[in-house]
Amino acid sequence: MEKFYLTTPIYYVNDVPHIGHAYTTILADVIKRYKMLRSFRVLFLTGTDEHGQKIERSAAKQGLAPQQLADAMVEHFKKLWTTLHIEYDAFIRTTDEVHVKGVQKIFAKVMAQGDIYLGEYAGHYCISCENFIPDSVEETADGQRACPDCGRLTDNRVKEKCYFFRLSAYGDRLLKFYEENPEFVMPRSRMNEVVSFVKMGLRDLSVTRSTVKWGVPVPGDPRQTIYVWFDALSNYITAIDYLNEGGRFREFWPADLHLMAKDILKYHAVYWPAFLMAAGLPPPRKELIHGWWLKDEKKMSKSSGNVLDPHILLKHFSPDAIRYFLMREASIGADGNFSHEGFINRINTDLTNDWANLVSRTTGMIEKYFGNEFRDAGQYSEREKEIETVFRRLEESVLELFDQYQFNRGLEMIFAYVNSLNRYIVETQPWNLAKEEANRQRLAGVLKTLARAILSVNALLSPILTETAAKVRAIFNSPDTRLGWRDLPEAFAIRPGEQLFPRVDSEAFFAEVPPAAGTHHQGAIMTETEVPKKESKPGFPADAATVSEGLIEIGEFQKVRMVVARVLAAEKVEKADKLLKLTVDSGGDTRTLVAGIALYYKPEELLGRKIIIVKNLKPAKLRGILSQGMILAASDADNRPYIPILPEETPIGAILK
Ligand code: ME8
Ligand code: MG
Repeated sequence: MEKFYLTTPIYYVNDVPHIGHAYTTILADVIKRYKMLRSFRVLFLTGTDEHGQKIERSAAKQGLAPQQLADAMVEHFKKLWTTLHIEYDAFIRTTDEVHVKGVQKIFAKVMAQGDIYLGEYAGHYCISCENFIPDSVEETADGQRACPDCGRLTDNRVKEKCYFFRLSAYGDRLLKFYEENPEFVMPRSRMNEVVSFVKMGLRDLSVTRSTVKWGVPVPGDPRQTIYVWFDALSNYITAIDYLNEGGRFREFWPADLHLMAKDILKYHAVYWPAFLMAAGLPPPRKELIHGWWLKDEKKMSKSSGNVLDPHILLKHFSPDAIRYFLMREASIGADGNFSHEGFINRINTDLTNDWANLVSRTTGMIEKYFGNEFRDAGQYSEREKEIETVFRRLEESVLELFDQYQFNRGLEMIFAYVNSLNRYIVETQPWNLAKEEANRQRLAGVLKTLARAILSVNALLSPILTETAAKVRAIFNSPDTRLGWRDLPEAFAIRPGEQLFPRVDSEAFFAEVPPAAGTHHQGAIMTETEVPKKESKPGFPADAATVSEGLIEIGEFQKVRMVVARVLAAEKVEKADKLLKLTVDSGGDTRTLVAGIALYYKPEELLGRKIIIVKNLKPAKLRGILSQGMILAASDADNRPYIPILPEETPIGAILK
């Protein structure tokens, strides 16, 4: 059996986990379960990053010792991972003794080898990223510098004696390594960023701090503390007993996959391989860099205060629903947007309407027409053979996508197949077959085919929908977890269980998480968005949340009267390429709107649709037509509009608030 060692970043313990951390960790768990299905011997590591100035400060603010803060936070992380069915094999804390000693070991090794030397660092330091800011970053008039990682300005100047790592000597070796391993960083665009960063030239890196106490002491020089990134990155080897170079280390290193978001790419793709080369160890095989989860189109981060607490979702949705949404909506390269509206729509559509309904309709009919048990052979036609063939083809494509960690695309294909099974029910009309005793075998053939197809799909879904997959296996009395077409025998019994994904009441949910003001996503399934990058240094994205928008009072927001309206008529405005004239019913009144969307929307695309309009905008004349309000649309950097279309059941005139 081939081994597969995969890791998540170890998370800072200055705060509780949010959906972004949950995403990386769920992704790791999904990959683990998928690899196990493909017969790999998997080791999945996660953990916590507990040292450094950031944690020291957070603890002090709360009147705690750093260790106390860390101990409390670790519980939050572990508990959340258990709730989300995350089955990690090892959990490393940077305060663990094996880690502390392991870090000292690699540090001493690199020093003995000559690539760590004593010097002095004078410059700025970003505490939020635990990042030394290079001199090449210009200073502002008031002595501040922008952190190349997060974009925040800082006037935190430090001048201290410290040890340096001779990173400058590793540029060529790194470039050679990237050249020989062009898929070391995925997606490729991120690999390119790394290469161009290294090509710009590397400077030696400060790897200790003399003014920070909370960390691992330098072996032989306890006045110095090992820099938190040197400390943190080493977790990937200390957790598997690098200290004693024990069996697990020998068996599992190099790691097969490090997962992370782009914020920490430089540390993992440049510093980490260089540290390892200096210590005489092979670099990891692959690093997969995923995008950001945005909340209502803004980057979610602790410092922006817009983080999404997974516990609120867990109150209303099962862990499987959350796992599914995150895997379905995020594509590895791009950022994903999280809105509660998109979330509830996705779950109710795919999991409740499509998947759970398919299972319950099928089991319901087996119960009703066969008393839950088939005794005789069914009768089959070419159509049933086709269902199997199509599945086999589907599985091949899905596995290819999953191998590339493209879970969103794999799931999309799986659900297209699920829908074809729902259509097969409509097409074969089992309820009509049931009317005639003569059709009994045919009816059995149809329902058994559905049962087989459901179980086959279920195995493909099992890395994501873990709990549900077990329920489906129990319903069909089929404990087999393997992939492949599930050829149930002709005689078998089922045990129908509860509804798999009961519809979640959106009112109760939104009572707790009000739809975000101003989002243009009502009713629309999330789109993937590449947020325009504000790069402060070529090659590395500013992770930061340079999104600091003016805050408003709820009262100010409520001044804007947004309502749901139905498009009654739509036509192009003569001699104006860009304008469409819409007549809408906004609940009790009919009005005319003129909108600059004609290049992107045909009148018939909007006809009959439910959209959002701003009702109390001062009327304006456009090409001689009085426009009484405005329609809401999201627009991208090129001003291309995206009009949110509401679900048909939304009442006309309903107010967005
Ligand atoms: O950087 N969207 O820890 P951290 C997607 N301790 N993923 C997100 C996210 C978001 N909005 N927010 C966080 C550190 N993440 C260091 C790592 S590793 C040797 C040391 C995820 O708590 C994503 O995986 O800031 C990101 O890389 C990580 O959390 C950063 O976690
Ligand atoms: Mg961070």
